[in-house]
Amino acid sequence: MMQTQCIDAKKQPVSGTRLGGRIIKQGGLVAFPTETVYGLGADGLNADAVRGIYEAKGRPADNPLILHIAKKSDVRALWDDVPRKARQLMDAFWPGPLTLVYNKSALVPDIVSAGLDTVAVRMPANKIARALIKAAQTPVAAPSANKSGRPSPTTAQHVLEDLGGIIPLVIDGGGTLHGVESTVLSVGAIPMLLRPGIVTQRMIEGVVGRIRVHARLLLPPDEGDTAVSPGMKHRHYAPDCQMLVFCGSLYGMARRIGEEYDARVAQNQDCVIFATQQTQHFYRGRKYVIIGDRDHPETLCANIFRLLRAWGSAADVILSESIAAEDAGLAFMNRLLRAAGYACIECRE
Ligand code: TXA
Ligand code: MG
Repeated sequence: MMQTQCIDAKKQPVSGTRLGGRIIKQGGLVAFPTETVYGLGADGLNADAVRGIYEAKGRPADNPLILHIAKKSDVRALWDDVPRKARQLMDAFWPGPLTLVYNKSALVPDIVSAGLDTVAVRMPANKIARALIKAAQTPVAAPSANKSGRPSPTTAQHVLEDLGGIIPLVIDGGGTLHGVESTVLSVGAIPMLLRPGIVTQRMIEGVVGRIRVHARLLLPPDEGDTAVSPGMKHRHYAPDCQMLVFCGSLYGMARRIGEEYDARVAQNQDCVIFATQQTQHFYRGRKYVIIGDRDHPETLCANIFRLLRAWGSAADVILSESIAAEDAGLAFMNRLLRAAGYACIECRE
């Protein structure tokens, strides 16, 4: 066991990033806030340091990492070239929650890309993240700072739950803004959406025209299809309890969830309902929590991982509503269905 130091970036902005930069330069690991979720960073050009990330997380070796940079021009050293569509997207969305995947340069160690010919790069909007990358003077390889398979961390406390005693430093920047990980887009001739996020298909198409969307964002991964986005095939976001997702009309869902709740409570199970602002009135007298506002799916994104962690250990079963998988709702439904193992109960009126 090592002692994990947690530095509050609001109280000590400089010492956190300075110490963090030094640890990363020396080949160590530092957890830090971004605008999406907390990342677990290491020197992205040092293969041994990157190996440390896989070990700390218990991450499968075939799941590649994202390199985080502090200024746009830093991408040039990491890719073969910068295609026009990538440049347009960088200008529109960087710094921000969009990760771009393109052919990697010889500088990028194979362990970062898990043996693929491409590498994922993003420039985070969070100022603490960028200050840390600058201090480290290297691209920072960083997956989400959770144990592999667990919900991504949106607070420093979540990071400590999973990695306390395993890493030397967590920089605490408070709760993250968006709550779900960045959008991942590969930028070939026709770009393809590999992981939905707060930067939506519609926003991307507004800049580069029609893109493709990976066919299984809401379905269990196809065994043969590991090369396109390796991260999608692994179990993810699982809460520590059973979880059921319901879909259909608002009224149909609410009625079915109510019945399921009552049946389980009668068997002494501790149930909680993930409801929305618009549907909470259906559940009066039952235990529910509001994930967010259906008309603003980004509000559901902001809360989902925190609620999966909190209720996963406080309930026997989570009964969750679903929302339309459009815009940021696609990001929400992608995370929700993965957390539930893709089971969705169809509800009729
Ligand atoms: O918001 C985020 O992206 C956060 C913060 C820390 O920046 N990071 C994050 O990293 O979510 P991670 O490792 O948990 O997710 C990276 C995703 C995985 O699904 C991985 O398979 C995919 O990006 N990915 C990385 N490199 C890739 C590549 N070369 N080709 C296809 N997919 C790739
Ligand atoms: Mg992750």
